[in-house]
Amino acid sequence: MTSYVILGLATLHGVHAWGVLGHATVAYVAQNYLSAATASWAQGVLADTSTSYLANIASWADTYRSTTAGAWSAPLHFIDAEDNPPTSCSVNYARDCGATGCSVSAMANYTQRVGDGRLSAANIAEALRFLVHFVGDITQPLHDEAFEAGANGVAVTFMGFSDNLHSDWDTYMPEELIGGSSLADAKSWATTLISEINSGTYESAKASWIAGDDIGNVVTTATRWASDANALVCSVVMPKGAAALTAEKDLYPTYYDDVIGTIELQIAKGGYRLANWLNMIFETEVAAKREIRELVDESELDGRKFLPEPRALSKAKLARAAIGYGCNHTH
Ligand SMILES: *[C@@H]1O[C@H](CO)[C@@H](O)[C@H](O)[C@H]1NC(C)=O
Ligand SMILES: [Zn+2]
Repeated sequence: MTSYVILGLATLHGVHAWGVLGHATVAYVAQNYLSAATASWAQGVLADTSTSYLANIASWADTYRSTTAGAWSAPLHFIDAEDNPPTSCSVNYARDCGATGCSVSAMANYTQRVGDGRLSAANIAEALRFLVHFVGDITQPLHDEAFEAGANGVAVTFMGFSDNLHSDWDTYMPEELIGGSSLADAKSWATTLISEINSGTYESAKASWIAGDDIGNVVTTATRWASDANALVCSVVMPKGAAALTAEKDLYPTYYDDVIGTIELQIAKGGYRLANWLNMIFETEVAAKREIRELVDESELDGRKFLPEPRALSKAKLARAAIGYGCNHTH
C-alpha cells in the first residue's frame, strides 16, 4: 500500500513530458495520418495489431526511465535550452544538448536505428517506442527549457493544489480540459484535434508544422521543433516571468484560459509531425531497403554477381538507404 502511494506520487510529480493523456493523444492523432503501409509496418514492429498500437506504447519511455535499467535514458526526454525567458528564448543544439544526450540527439539515434535491419526485432521495437514518445516530448515547451529544470522548480497553485508549473503543463491542465487520462479520453481528444487539423482551426497551419522535415537531417529538424516549442516559453508559458506565476493566487481560471489553446495546438502538432516522420522513415528507410534486398535476391537467382540497374528506385532513395548502412554504432 505504502509503496503504491509513493509510486503514484513519483509518477505525478516526476519530470515527465506530457503525461499519459498527452502522449496517448499524440499517438492517436499520428495513427490517423499514417499510410496503410506505415501502419502495418509499425504494428508488425510493435507486435500489436490493435487499434491503439501507438497509444499503447506512447508512455513506455517514461516508465522505462524510472527503472534502474532505464535511468540512463532520462536526459533524452528534454533539451535544456540555456536561454533567458521571458526576455529571450532560443535553442542551440551545440550549447544545449549536453554530453549525455538530449531529445534531439535521441531523435537522430532512434530514427537511424528503427530502419536498421541489422538490429534485433527488440532493438527496432525499442527505437519505435522511443520515437513515438520523444516527438511528443519535444512539443511540450517546458521540455525545451533549462530554467528551473523546465519549471519543475517554479512553485504555483492550480485549482487549489500546490504544485509546479511543469506538472501543470504536462498533466493537470490537459486533464482539466479532458476530464480524465484513460486511453478512451485520449482517443476522444484526438478525434477533436483530427477534425481541427482536417478542416478547422489548424487546417491552414498544418503544412507549416512539417515544412522542411527531413529524416536525412534529423538534428536540424528536431532542433527546429524544439525551437518552435521553446519560443512559447517566452510568449505563452511565462510571458511576465516565473515570479508573476508563483505570485498568482491560483492559475485557474485566468492563466489556464490563456494557455490551454496552446496545449491543444502542441498536442495536435506532435501527432501530425509524428505521422509524417514515421511515413518518411517507412518510405525512405524501410521500404527502400526492402526493394534493394529484393533486387539483390533477384540478381542472385539470375546467377549474376552485380546489383541490377535500380530501375524501381530513385537516386535519392538509394542514397538514403546507403546512409543508413554507413553509420557508426556505439552498440
Ligand atoms: C542509441 O541507442 C542505443 C539503444 O538504446 C543506446 O545504447 C546508445 O547509447 C544510443 N546512442 C547514442 C549516441 O545516443
Ligand atoms: Zn518523456
